[in-house]
Amino acid sequence: MSIDGSREFADKLDHADPLKTFRQQFNQPETYDSIDPVYLCGNSLGLQPKNAINYVNEVLDAWQKYAVRGHFHGERPWTAYHRLATESLAELTGSQPAEVIAMNTLTVNLHLLLSAFYRPSNDRQKILIESTAFPSDRFAVASQIRSRGLVVDDNLLEWAPRPSTQRLHLEDLQQLLEQHGSHISLILLPGVQYYSGELLDISEICRLGKKHGCIVGIDLAHSIGNVPIKLHDSGADFAAWCSYKYLNGGPGAVGGAFVHERHLITRTQSQLLGWWGNDESSRFRMGREFSPAPGMEAWQLSNPPILALAPVIASLEIFKQAGIVQLREKSKMLTNYLEELLAAKFDDRLRSITPRTARGCQLSLMVANPDIDGKQLFERLGDMNVIIDWREPDVMRVAPVPLYNSFADVHQFAERLALAIEKQR
Ligand SMILES: Cc1ncc(COP(=O)(O)O)c(C=O)c1O
Repeated sequence: MSIDGSREFADKLDHADPLKTFRQQFNQPETYDSIDPVYLCGNSLGLQPKNAINYVNEVLDAWQKYAVRGHFHGERPWTAYHRLATESLAELTGSQPAEVIAMNTLTVNLHLLLSAFYRPSNDRQKILIESTAFPSDRFAVASQIRSRGLVVDDNLLEWAPRPSTQRLHLEDLQQLLEQHGSHISLILLPGVQYYSGELLDISEICRLGKKHGCIVGIDLAHSIGNVPIKLHDSGADFAAWCSYKYLNGGPGAVGGAFVHERHLITRTQSQLLGWWGNDESSRFRMGREFSPAPGMEAWQLSNPPILALAPVIASLEIFKQAGIVQLREKSKMLTNYLEELLAAKFDDRLRSITPRTARGCQLSLMVANPDIDGKQLFERLGDMNVIIDWREPDVMRVAPVPLYNSFADVHQFAERLALAIEKQR
């Protein structure tokens, strides 16, 4: 795209955007000191779908009217409520409906999946993660290793980004696997790296992992709703995600999990069980035998938090209307526009560490000028009602989200950034 830096240019792009009306289905945060918000933080918490309140109220009404009967009565009975998410989650992750389920939260799901899939043997005890993994993923795998009576330092391998490019190079993964593959039990990697915003090639990771006999799990926290995914075809063994980022499910929303069909047929002996995974037909007989529900429904432990699921369902309805392929097309344009605008205006002062050829919507920006303090700049932007986020030690994450962000938002961001930099001088 060849851009010009004027507001008219941004407005023209918005005018031509076939998805522009979806913005109206979301609540923008409040104005602050009479300044309109510029919200570019959907990588952390997605905006509230206007319809979420109706879905939540519907559950409250059903509870009020039907009390316990709400499990089976009303427009959307609670015993089947989680299924309202299944089709969309399958579409967004490129899975069969039987392979996905909305349940729990991300770290809880990682533990459930690791409990089942991390089966260290005498020869294969190691887990491979990336060296800059999100702390919760690191804590989860480390505690899983420890819980099997193994020493973490001896059994946690790390794939590190190259200092020269700050990218995770597949050749380095390949080399690690050639060196240690026969001792690696399990690989856990992200679809999109939370800090750098780098998009990883899940299919290639799975191919390499499988070649060396490893179980492969993927953390989709920053991928789902951001980029199209093909989990089933990639051959990944398992995956998990949260729903409060690009899925706009609200703070602490119900997350989700995927297990590949081949494991659903054979079932793993080490899968942790609860009564809600028992088949519906026998669940309330209160028997002693576990009779698994079909597919991923058998992985449910407890009856789901319906109030927390309601906004997720409201948001997934919007994804169905917009379509992830169309969203991705707009997303590429929005992020390219952001990148080019920043390069034109601040080339000597800011740089993006997010690879141009492998990213979702997020750009991770670092200050490149010693006279500018990155954290202070971020705080100054906050004072101007620009909502982005800061990740220690030195990155501002900026994520224009195609469902509800406009080219004008990106333009406004660049304008306020210029003012904020000016004020620091
Ligand atoms: C990559 C990644 N893993 C794990 C988590 C933790 O998620 P939760 O608090 O839902 O368990 C997050 C949260 O942002 C994340 O980005």
